[in-house]
Amino acid sequence: MFVSDINNEHTCYFVAVVDDVVVGYCGMWLAVDQGQITNVAVDPSYRNQGIATSLINNLIEVCIDNNLESITLEVRESNVSAINLYTKLGFTNVGCRNNYYKNPTENGILMTKFLNFERND
Ligand SMILES: CC(C)(COP(=O)(O)OP(=O)(O)OC[C@H]1O[C@@H](n2cnc3c(N)ncnc32)[C@H](O)[C@@H]1OP(=O)(O)O)[C@@H](O)C(=O)NCCC(=O)NCCS
Repeated sequence: MFVSDINNEHTCYFVAVVDDVVVGYCGMWLAVDQGQITNVAVDPSYRNQGIATSLINNLIEVCIDNNLESITLEVRESNVSAINLYTKLGFTNVGCRNNYYKNPTENGILMTKFLNFERND
């Protein structure tokens, strides 16, 4: 999936590197008017140092540079750390997809950050 995604011109990936080792990454699909975050993950040993914040801010910048209206994602409703992270970055809860996730089955919270007001032009 990574190889396929990275070779697709409509995706964007960033990695966080410490001492030549990848310790985090994030990915996004660039749809017509919206960025869709596919995943964000940071090595457990490097969490709570602002790495995910920095990775997602890079995705937000790409969306703004491409004049996209919003950036969106789904997150398990039990994933408090991720929900806190996205909330802190200005994403809001815009919906719920019932039983969206499997193993275990769980609702997906749809979170979106609208970008219009972030443009300077
Ligand atoms: C969610 C995840 C990406 C956060 O990465 P991180 O680099 O530790 O995040 P940051 O250091 O940038 O934290 C930013 C904010 O996220 C929230 N946060 C991060 N870890 C948290 C935790 N353990 N508990 C509660 N809130 C947390 C906080 O609001 C934090 O801000 P603060 O430091 O001012 O309190 C990381 O925990 C992870 O890889 N989890 C497993 C994969 C995952 O769940 N990805 C999301 C899929 S949708």
